[in-house]
Amino acid sequence: MVSNQVDESAPQPRLTSLGPLVDRVGTPTYFYSLDGISAAVRRFQQAFEPINPKLLFAVKACSNIHVLAQLASLGCGMDVVSAGELERAWLAGTPMENVSFAGTGKTVDDIAAALDGRNSPLRGRTIDRHANAPDHRGAVGLFVIESVEEAARIDSLARRFGVRARACVRLNPDVDAQTHHYITTGKTENKFGVDLEAARRLFTQYRVSDSLSLCGLHMHLGSLMASPEPIVSGVRALLAAASSIEAETKTRLEVLNIGGGLGVDYGSPDSAPVAPVEDFARAIIPELRARSQAGTQICLEPGRALVAPSGVLVTTVQYVKRRGQRTFIICDAGMQTLIRPALYGSYHFVWPLSVKPEHTPRALSPDAGLDSGVQASLELCDVVGPVCESSDFLAKRRPLPRVVPGDRLAVFTAGAYGMSMASTYNQHPLPAEVLVRGSEAELIRPRGDIYDLLRTELDDPQRLS
Ligand code: LLP
Repeated sequence: MVSNQVDESAPQPRLTSLGPLVDRVGTPTYFYSLDGISAAVRRFQQAFEPINPKLLFAVKACSNIHVLAQLASLGCGMDVVSAGELERAWLAGTPMENVSFAGTGKTVDDIAAALDGRNSPLRGRTIDRHANAPDHRGAVGLFVIESVEEAARIDSLARRFGVRARACVRLNPDVDAQTHHYITTGKTENKFGVDLEAARRLFTQYRVSDSLSLCGLHMHLGSLMASPEPIVSGVRALLAAASSIEAETKTRLEVLNIGGGLGVDYGSPDSAPVAPVEDFARAIIPELRARSQAGTQICLEPGRALVAPSGVLVTTVQYVKRRGQRTFIICDAGMQTLIRPALYGSYHFVWPLSVKPEHTPRALSPDAGLDSGVQASLELCDVVGPVCESSDFLAKRRPLPRVVPGDRLAVFTAGAYGMSMASTYNQHPLPAEVLVRGSEAELIRPRGDIYDLLRTELDDPQRLS
């Protein structure tokens, strides 16, 4: 189940063997290949080994507790951005010292839960299924501070709970990640982080605080970067900022977190080819080697690169609607299941799960790498969902083998920002999730049902005044 019939280097669950599983669990369903995820983690660890980084998986990319538990067992810590993600990291068995809590809008409740497990929103609930979670939960290893105001809030809450919070300050280095503008985060016009001046003031202000220890700097420029150049520019800005803060405060920063954002190849003909992780490592390591050798802990926060290629979404064709020049393949998955095409115009390769041998795809590109003779037998289609919006599409103007209602389509490279961004819009229940390990598979999240969607509204309204 490891290798992918399209591209051996992108270990998505092998499509041909998914058929019987799909028959059992139905659609829409996300399938993840554990072998693929493990291989991606090991590849990342090996590529960056000379600077011995701590890998903090960005939980927002794929938040299923069972996937997180596998990542934790492979040695990953977790980058979380809400109390909800924090609880998932904890239930997955991640030691709290390996959790970093970022995000621009941490509420008082979020921070309280991250400082002391007794403030967990799950306190008092019996959750015995997740034996992984340790009994007592202390403070997260690191906060990532995104503003001066947030630093004050963490400082005062930590004082109230009698603990000392450790934190990095997120620097906004004003470097363009050269990616989609919705996922660019390191420019001044983006809401993230603070500028160098504010960072310096923070380090001076909290130097003697008993409740907040500022021990490092963080940056994250954006997501889906095709080449290492932006990260290298950002790292240089981060190092310069670190030196200037160290000179001013006469302390040594213990942590430098350079964020995530490494792209993966979705196969889009309109995007630049994405450099392999080894190229990113080769460019970044020389910048950080001296620091690492001097004892600074380097952190990386990959999300997409660890899980995207190892996930496929499978959907069932409901109708094939031909009108004039257009053919719409209407599926049970749509923008409610995978919002990336609707939100960013993202490209995902889509192909029927079972095809005649001559239609076996050889590449994730729109023509599937097929011979021109075979191309002639394909039909140009829009693959769309059931939602009442014209932005509800999974793929547009794609040549596809003929399908009929009941056929299954696979949407590739869907392991990141797929299920974690799914919604119940138009009152469609959430999809199921399956983890494939070798020749075995586990249902790691059953499909949602209509009752789930209604449950919290079935009681009579509560009077508030
Ligand atoms: N660290 C921080 C602080 C982040 O904000 C993110 C992603 C990451 C790490 C992980 O980035 P990655 O390695 O996965 O690129 N929904 C969008 C992506 C949004 C990314 C948000 N932050 C998409 O579907 O493309």
